[in-house]
Amino acid sequence: MQKQKNLSKDKNFDSGFYEVVKDILHDPEVLKMKNFNQHSNTDCYMHCLHVSYYNYRICRALRLNAGAAARAGMLHDFFLYDWRHHPKAPGERMHAFTHAGYALRNAEKTFELSEREEDIILRHMWPVTITPPKHMESWIITLTDKYCSICEFIDHYYPLKGLHAKFSGYLN
Ligand SMILES: [Fe+2]
Ligand SMILES: [Fe+2]
Repeated sequence: MQKQKNLSKDKNFDSGFYEVVKDILHDPEVLKMKNFNQHSNTDCYMHCLHVSYYNYRICRALRLNAGAAARAGMLHDFFLYDWRHHPKAPGERMHAFTHAGYALRNAEKTFELSEREEDIILRHMWPVTITPPKHMESWIITLTDKYCSICEFIDHYYPLKGLHAKFSGYLN
């Protein structure tokens, strides 16, 4: 409640979005994503927060299931290892092909997921992974994930004003 009051004047803070994902944002296992770098200056937690937020805004505007899009977006890269140095089991495919499955298994340990949320997590890497998404929200994440990844990559060379600062209200 205090958090909402303090943030009420922050034009970047969307309380609707926060309400939908707050249990995930503060989960101790999810917070471990902060320990792993994802793209350039962006850790996995921040990357998932970027994707989750844009999923929510786009799906809400299109009158899709914004809640499922936001929650699954926050969990879509919940794999909890350094993907650059992660040892592969014999015969295991590259990270790009496997991490959605790791993320889904980790998410299922802690959260009750709908079939739509499972699809969003599992299919977010399409077309790298061949099987196409079943739901519109899953198609949206295939775009928001790539958009956010490109912004995070560019930020390393040409800092994008406010890329991370916009989300500071959600991080405490
Ligand atoms: Fe991913
Ligand atoms: Fe991602």
